[in-house]
Amino acid sequence: MKPLFRNISRLFILFLVITLMIGCEDKDDKVIFDISIIPQPQELTIENGYLKLDKNTKILTDSDNHKVADIANYFVRQFNSVSGYSLSVSVMTGDTTPKNAILFIDKNIESSFGKEGYTLKSNKNNIVLSGSPHGLFYAVQTLFQLLPVEIYSSKNIKNTNWYVPSVSIKDQPRFKWRGMHLDVGRHMFPVSFIKKYIDYIAMHKMNIFHWHLTEDQGWRIEIKKYPRLTKIGAWRKGTQIEKTNKIDNQRYGGYYTQEEIREIVTYAGEKFVTVVPEIELPGHSIAALTAYPEFSCTGGSFEVRTKWGNSNNIYCAGNDSVFSFLENILTEVLELFPSKYIHIGGDEAPKTRWEECVKCQERIKNEGLKDEQELQSYFISRIEKFLNSKGRQIIGWDEILEGGLAPNAAVMSWRGIEGGISAAKLKHNVVMTPTDYLYFDYYQGKPENEPLAIGGFLPIEKVYSYEPIPEELSINEQQYIMGVQANQWTEYIATPELVEYMTLPRLCALSEIAWSPKHRRNLDNFLLKMNTHYERLNELGVNYRWPRLEGLNSKNIFIEKIKVEFISKQKGTKIYYTLDGTTPSNNSTLYTKSFTVSKTTSINVIEYSSKGKSSPIYNGQYIKQKPIEAVTTKSSQKGLIFEFFEFEKPINYTNKLLDMQASFNGKVKKFIIPIEDEKLPEKFGLIYKGFITIPADGVYTFSILSNDGSKLYIADQLVVDNDGQHGAFEKEGEIALKAGQHKIQLDYFQAGGGKALKVYFQNKKSEKIEISENILNY
Ligand code: ACM
Ligand code: ZN
Repeated sequence: MKPLFRNISRLFILFLVITLMIGCEDKDDKVIFDISIIPQPQELTIENGYLKLDKNTKILTDSDNHKVADIANYFVRQFNSVSGYSLSVSVMTGDTTPKNAILFIDKNIESSFGKEGYTLKSNKNNIVLSGSPHGLFYAVQTLFQLLPVEIYSSKNIKNTNWYVPSVSIKDQPRFKWRGMHLDVGRHMFPVSFIKKYIDYIAMHKMNIFHWHLTEDQGWRIEIKKYPRLTKIGAWRKGTQIEKTNKIDNQRYGGYYTQEEIREIVTYAGEKFVTVVPEIELPGHSIAALTAYPEFSCTGGSFEVRTKWGNSNNIYCAGNDSVFSFLENILTEVLELFPSKYIHIGGDEAPKTRWEECVKCQERIKNEGLKDEQELQSYFISRIEKFLNSKGRQIIGWDEILEGGLAPNAAVMSWRGIEGGISAAKLKHNVVMTPTDYLYFDYYQGKPENEPLAIGGFLPIEKVYSYEPIPEELSINEQQYIMGVQANQWTEYIATPELVEYMTLPRLCALSEIAWSPKHRRNLDNFLLKMNTHYERLNELGVNYRWPRLEGLNSKNIFIEKIKVEFISKQKGTKIYYTLDGTTPSNNSTLYTKSFTVSKTTSINVIEYSSKGKSSPIYNGQYIKQKPIEAVTTKSSQKGLIFEFFEFEKPINYTNKLLDMQASFNGKVKKFIIPIEDEKLPEKFGLIYKGFITIPADGVYTFSILSNDGSKLYIADQLVVDNDGQHGAFEKEGEIALKAGQHKIQLDYFQAGGGKALKVYFQNKKSEKIEISENILNY
């Protein structure tokens, strides 16, 4: 949708919502209710009127079921703490709900409505919540969201009218697995933060915390029988610095004691969140093997990894003592985690060592297996048999499909959706977590405006667009999709604040995918509700990613003058800016409408919510440039010349190519890799040189989508810097050019893994196009 149309349609929806909001006269005050429930309930009817909670409100249960009283008390604790009242819970006497009361009805509606469903009816007299304790917990989440956002505050709030608008809600989740994952192997977070993370999961009516506890970079769970797992395996000598080859040489590590784990599991249980532990096997296990090298194929010695990526050394599949070791570990894990599902990993296990190991090869022979893939399947099935014998089920990453799925395994589909489709067709349970939509370690905006991340591009709108049921599945097969989950890998996420930033608000979008019926999902409506939801996150003090102002790019080239316009993505905010390089505040110039600048200017901008929370400070460089003159001597040969480089050790930056000897050179029509895939070495580099013909004077945006690094120079000026080792992502840059031919050079390298290279350009008036052979010469 074009932005203008999008804004008009959002305004229209705002108008609709306001029209739906009820205007009520409260003496002199006009009360307008903003009903923004996330995730959207299955059925919601807004009625006339409201109830104002006060110090006399009665909190009642219809029975003496202590589990119901626990939920009522959970509501009361929060309400008392913000309101300063001293309400308490009692069992209702008599048959009619009194006025000014909140009644919790213990109704096991499991048969017709699922154990997580609830109803909530509020009118001017009272509020009635009904459901099982689990459903009632979600009814309370909804009640919190009907109340003013201050209900989420940790402070005592004076002068708030605790209105609850009259509504009738009938609600239940679409999916039974509504998960959020956290990797504590790459970086570790304190118990207090793990609890907060569980709070964020629960307040969004999600019910699974997938706790990724073991990794190549650290083993994080105390196992009493094997103390070296944490004494040795929980510590690494240092940590890779950003995306370089350098290590910071600071000892890093830690682990969760069994006591702490029990505390977390109990805490989660009170919020109806199941903690699913992940104990990785057979790969991602070098931390464990550093502590107990006898369970590898080679015997070691090893080191807990300091760099990201994984190791070729994995558990030996030919050694029976490995299985005893893992079963002993899992026995302790089962004592700590009541979860029906135990995640056993299964992803990214290189088979190099198994191919060379006598014991592994003997196992292949003795078990009549075809190859190492089937050996992995043997490994997983043997672990499954053990866990099944203890009444548990395994879930694993989609690699466990390779070589044959263990008989009862559930599959987490992460490398796209194909694994999920295959597993569902085989009548196995599935959780969908495809990277493109649900990897929350991906960038939320342009990399140049965001903290360093692993790569990718996953804005909240894209998360919201995800539909977990693949079209390829029949109605019958669809029942195997248990639900949906997002994953939070922490290579580049070292602090709790950054976990919050990367998780929220994308988690809000995920919750609606997981909970709300498909036909109740609407992006514009969701984004409108987010306006209020951001205020709730403000009250909670979450370091969520503030939706970035639109219109302000970090670098803007112009020739004569340029229009500066900011579009807020939040309701009711105020924008202030400075033009003299100073730090902006709410004493700076208030932005009211767009303006133009006609000289080079550095603009600093800050946005404040209606409650005074401030955004990050944004900077935009507006740079006046004289268009660069075209070259005077014309080149007429079509295409580009290139030099091709081959190397053994992976490089990190394109400048390494400059020290190398080209293995050969040649001509190409455009920016393509001049060797077919089968003949292409795994690691290579290219430098392309030539001239580009610019059609008219103007400012041009160039961009490169590459995997790995690339740099583009026009007229010997660096225009796009997409350097470094990374997955396929795009970066852009601008330059003012005169019509005619200009020198162009692209440096590119590929250090292993997937490859990609595309180069685009556009001017302000034209569509973005790939640079084609008819404008390239040498
Ligand atoms: C994964 O992201 N390796 C499951
Ligand atoms: Zn082996």
